[in-house]
Amino acid sequence: MTRGESRSEQQPASGIGLGDDIISVDDVDREASRLAQQGPGVERIAELAGGAPLLEIDGLYAGYGKMEILHGLDLQVAPGQSLCLIGPNGAGKSTVLHSIYGFTRIGRGSIRVDGEDITKLSPNDKLKRAGIAYILQDNSVFPDMSVEENLCMGGYLMDHPRDAKQAAERIFDRYDPLARRRRQPARVLSGGERRLLEISRALVMDPRLLLVDEPSIGLEPRYIDMIFEILAELQHGEGKAIVMVEQNAKKGLEFADIGYVLVSGSVAMADTGEELLRHPEVGRLFLGG
Ligand SMILES: Nc1ncnc2c1ncn2[C@@H]1O[C@H](COP(=O)(O)OP(=O)(O)O)[C@@H](O)[C@H]1O
Ligand SMILES: [Mg+2]
Repeated sequence: MTRGESRSEQQPASGIGLGDDIISVDDVDREASRLAQQGPGVERIAELAGGAPLLEIDGLYAGYGKMEILHGLDLQVAPGQSLCLIGPNGAGKSTVLHSIYGFTRIGRGSIRVDGEDITKLSPNDKLKRAGIAYILQDNSVFPDMSVEENLCMGGYLMDHPRDAKQAAERIFDRYDPLARRRRQPARVLSGGERRLLEISRALVMDPRLLLVDEPSIGLEPRYIDMIFEILAELQHGEGKAIVMVEQNAKKGLEFADIGYVLVSGSVAMADTGEELLRHPEVGRLFLGG
């Protein structure tokens, strides 16, 4: 089916802009699958990470139970670099993060951090030994616990509670909105502050790699920029590597050094965030024009 035909089945647009194309979810999936036929090649993936990756995924096949979701995924990101995964719903973006953190069943392939094979480590060891932190997509703050108690939970794997406490102090020094409310129940925080608390909790273990699933989801626009600024500071100021999934593809690609378009569990395109933003097909399929 050509695009013209599929479009004629749609109702006229309202509020999308004069003469804009309308693309159905099925169209996006179909056309994205076409893009996925080629794939970027591992050389390009390595080049984007500057040839010195902190995280290196090679030919990863992973899924849940008997269902394979990722089919030979390659991914590389260097220290102080950010990578954003975009793509249709259900493409497997969150599954990439789950696999890095150890929540999926891995069939073939490998995941290395700093050259060390961590493919089979448990999530606890990923955090404690490999320095990987996973920031949950869902609202995971405990509303009736104090801000400080919530934060200290990020150190539950530490050998001594006082270590978690010290780490929490360093975070309070840095993020005043949390410090001011440290003894109050977390429910008093604004949406943006809650997201900050979720990120901060992951920082207690001083990770090298942050996995961030949909940082902007559910946030009012005025908080979205704040969260991206905080992530930028962690990347550029602290040299942390970030792998994120972002439904707001434009925001994600503007933020990230590297962008991958994930389609049906494979990397269809990989380029700098800037180049993907300029790419006509990416624009049409994922950036709403
Ligand atoms: N915990 C899970 N158990 C079983 N299937 C899952 C689980 N999480 C996701 N899936 C399935 O994996 C596929 C990819 O999902 P996901 O990675 O969440 O996609 P995306 O983040 O790109 O929207 C979907 O078909 C989804 O139903
Ligand atoms: Mg997801």
